[in-house]
Amino acid sequence: MLKVELLDATHDRGGFDCGVTPLNRYLQQIARQHIAKGISKTFVLVEERAAMPKPVLGFFTISLCQVLGQHVPAKWATKLPAHIPAMRLGRLAAARTRQGTGYGKTLLVEALYRVARVADVAGGIGLFVDAKDEAAAAFYARFGFEPTPSGPLTLFMPAETIRRFTA
Ligand SMILES: CC(C)(COP(=O)(O)OP(=O)(O)OC[C@H]1O[C@@H](n2cnc3c(N)ncnc32)[C@H](O)[C@@H]1OP(=O)(O)O)[C@@H](O)C(=O)NCCC(=O)NCCS
Repeated sequence: MLKVELLDATHDRGGFDCGVTPLNRYLQQIARQHIAKGISKTFVLVEERAAMPKPVLGFFTISLCQVLGQHVPAKWATKLPAHIPAMRLGRLAAARTRQGTGYGKTLLVEALYRVARVADVAGGIGLFVDAKDEAAAAFYARFGFEPTPSGPLTLFMPAETIRRFTA
């Protein structure tokens, strides 16, 4: 059975390859430092009963963020303070050998569940995502992420849509 776990030393980071070197490097060299420093949380998709270290089948990284009103889609930008709390999906990737089999969707839904929990206890207008290219932006748009004034590679899902998604 597949399971999502917070990245730790029981996971085989070195063997992960999503086909995008900066994403592989982030998982292998930076993600655990960022967890330790409280900068972000990286969660990995693994086979629950895999032998240790468990091969990483995919991962995503969530952090808190603060945005200015000019970065929020107009529909959601009325009567907001100057600095607006939100969450950011900094990275998401599936292992190259598994792409196209639903792992990307599983990772995204798992990220949304975690973001919904944060929004329930701490607020946040929604989730911003930085897509690495147009294909990645199309993947997020497919799940209802909206364009933002920041540019075509920054997308947004408001908290109320996330709640509907995870209800
Ligand atoms: C982008 C990525 C995460 C998608 O994961 P995946 O496992 O291949 O996608 P899934 O099999 O879960 O696809 C889920 C759905 O999204 C659709 N989809 C997948 N990639 C898509 C794309 N680029 N554009 C539009 N739709 C896409 C699939 O057709 C599928 O639709 P369905 O539910 O109607 O069948 C994966 O290709 C990847 O890791 N790429 C390298 C890293 C990357 O680009 N990350 C993006 C964030 S920076």
